[in-house]
Amino acid sequence: MSNLIPRSFIDDLLLRTDIIDVIGDRIRLRKAGKNYTALCPFHQEKTASFNVSPDKQFYHCFGCGKSGNAIGFLIDYEQLTFVEAVENLAQRVGLALPAQSVRAQKQSPQDNSIYDVLTDVASFYQSQLENHPKASLVKNYLKNRGISASVISTFQLGFAPPGWENVLQYATNKGYSLKQLVEAGVIIEKEDGKRYDRFRDRVMFPIRDHRGRTIAFGGRVLDDSTPKYLNSPETAVFHKSTELYGLFEARQAYSNLHSVILVEGYMDVIGLYQHGIKCGVATLGTAVSPTHFQRLFRYTDRVICCFDGDNAGRQAAWRALEASLPCLNATHSVSFLLLPEKEDPDSLIAKEGKEAFVNRLQRTVSLSDFLLTQLSSQHPVNSIDGRARFLQAVNPFLTKLNDAVLRTMLVEKIAELCRMNSADLEQLLTTLGKAPTHQSYSTMIKPAGRLTPMRLAISLLLQYPHCAKSVSAEEVNIITQWEMPGIAVLSKLLTLLHQNPQLTTAALLEHWREENNIAYLHQLASWPLTLPTDGVAEEFTGTLHRIKQLAFEKQIDFLLEKAKQHALSSEERSQLQMLLKQQAQEQAV
Ligand code: CTP
Ligand code: MN
Repeated sequence: MSNLIPRSFIDDLLLRTDIIDVIGDRIRLRKAGKNYTALCPFHQEKTASFNVSPDKQFYHCFGCGKSGNAIGFLIDYEQLTFVEAVENLAQRVGLALPAQSVRAQKQSPQDNSIYDVLTDVASFYQSQLENHPKASLVKNYLKNRGISASVISTFQLGFAPPGWENVLQYATNKGYSLKQLVEAGVIIEKEDGKRYDRFRDRVMFPIRDHRGRTIAFGGRVLDDSTPKYLNSPETAVFHKSTELYGLFEARQAYSNLHSVILVEGYMDVIGLYQHGIKCGVATLGTAVSPTHFQRLFRYTDRVICCFDGDNAGRQAAWRALEASLPCLNATHSVSFLLLPEKEDPDSLIAKEGKEAFVNRLQRTVSLSDFLLTQLSSQHPVNSIDGRARFLQAVNPFLTKLNDAVLRTMLVEKIAELCRMNSADLEQLLTTLGKAPTHQSYSTMIKPAGRLTPMRLAISLLLQYPHCAKSVSAEEVNIITQWEMPGIAVLSKLLTLLHQNPQLTTAALLEHWREENNIAYLHQLASWPLTLPTDGVAEEFTGTLHRIKQLAFEKQIDFLLEKAKQHALSSEERSQLQMLLKQQAQEQAV
């Protein structure tokens, strides 16, 4: 979608926009030195960790890690699409969207019609559950699993018939192009040009977004063949790491969702629903992420994680615990219900009925109990040694909590468990916090990894774009040819800044919106660099120099290694000589 709006327009738009106005219109900003701060609109907090920089035209929350430019802010805060956000900003500064992009947007196959494709295909699957010769067999399968006609209709379950071209023919007849069908994820196109239905001979579960639009499918086989479940691929409208199956249906069922039960599978959601527990939601074959929790806490205050009683289920619960920590506070809580061995929510509620299940729901384990019980069983706290290991293990979890009150409460519990007083414990935890622990788990909050020269160079360019001036166009060309991780980003940044030296942090980042390293670039854009302002250019040239040395070292190693195995070409030989000579010169300086 975004590629229909010319890059130059977006660059220009971001140059004319002031993020301080855009955000300031929506939340209360306070000036603090050069920057502005506020209570973060994306997570609950009592002290302001949301920061907006007029220089970078960029916001960043030190609490929850959210960051972005004015476009990103509108997308997240107002829940706009990319184009809507661009339109909104354009209107504000009095720019007209280029005509062709508006037209293209209206007819875009990607935007509107991907939903049309998915809706039509969903109704095709539904009609096959009524009319296909195998329909009664499929209905029997569902019936044997205890699913009633009304639940089938609530979840719009369907049947993808056997055969390779059912959807292909149906949708082509409806006028959709092959490209649209492939982009919607319902048709697979191989490199050799073969194309066929992704889902064949499966019970179909349409996955719907928060507005009820079908955005993807899951399909289950009717027997024991594999894979048991097949899901749509990631598409323009389907992102596994944020969507939750059943959330739309749960919100339809209750005007106010007191709690949500997070389960592992489609059938768990449906099995619970069938028994009148209509608030089950499931991740879609992926691990639970902080984004899932963020989304859930928009609609409910309480998430009960209910996983299978096997090892995998226990692990899933543990991962859910970790993912939920940044999102917890006094209102938003998570608790756990671990089921007996060999049972999942669907099988258990079928076996013991609603009442027994509701009883279990009333006896869930709180997050802090789950955490402390698990860790203290691994590291018993009855010896000095054990306590030290226990604290070492628990500390990374504490640091992931963003909410101060919650953290204090947990520290008190820990103090009690270890029979220490809370003040001494706090002291100890501060020193522990400084030592890196291997248990710490990369989050979106803390920059992951260390600041390599490449990361530093990228970070400097993002935060102080004027650094690019110290590199000539010719040098940019040379840099592009070095071979090492990150070089593509570095040279793209340098090239962009050579073309347009006015670009801000925000405008630069915009060029990566659709790339999968965007989150990483956001981290580098807000990495705390403690530099004197007049030392920036020097730092940058120094860093580039260090990168050059590394690139040369790498190339020398590569050529020497190659020389051991094959003879080098004459070109490679002279390159090696040149590099070694340069290296010797450098070392002599
Ligand atoms: N899953 C998947 N791909 C698979 C197996 C599982 O994506 N090959 C995902 C599905 O979202 C599924 C969930 O993991 O709903 C749980 O899988 P599993 O526990 O194996 O299945 P059940 O939910 O118990 O399914 P059923 O009761 O239909 O056997
Ligand atoms: Mn099951």
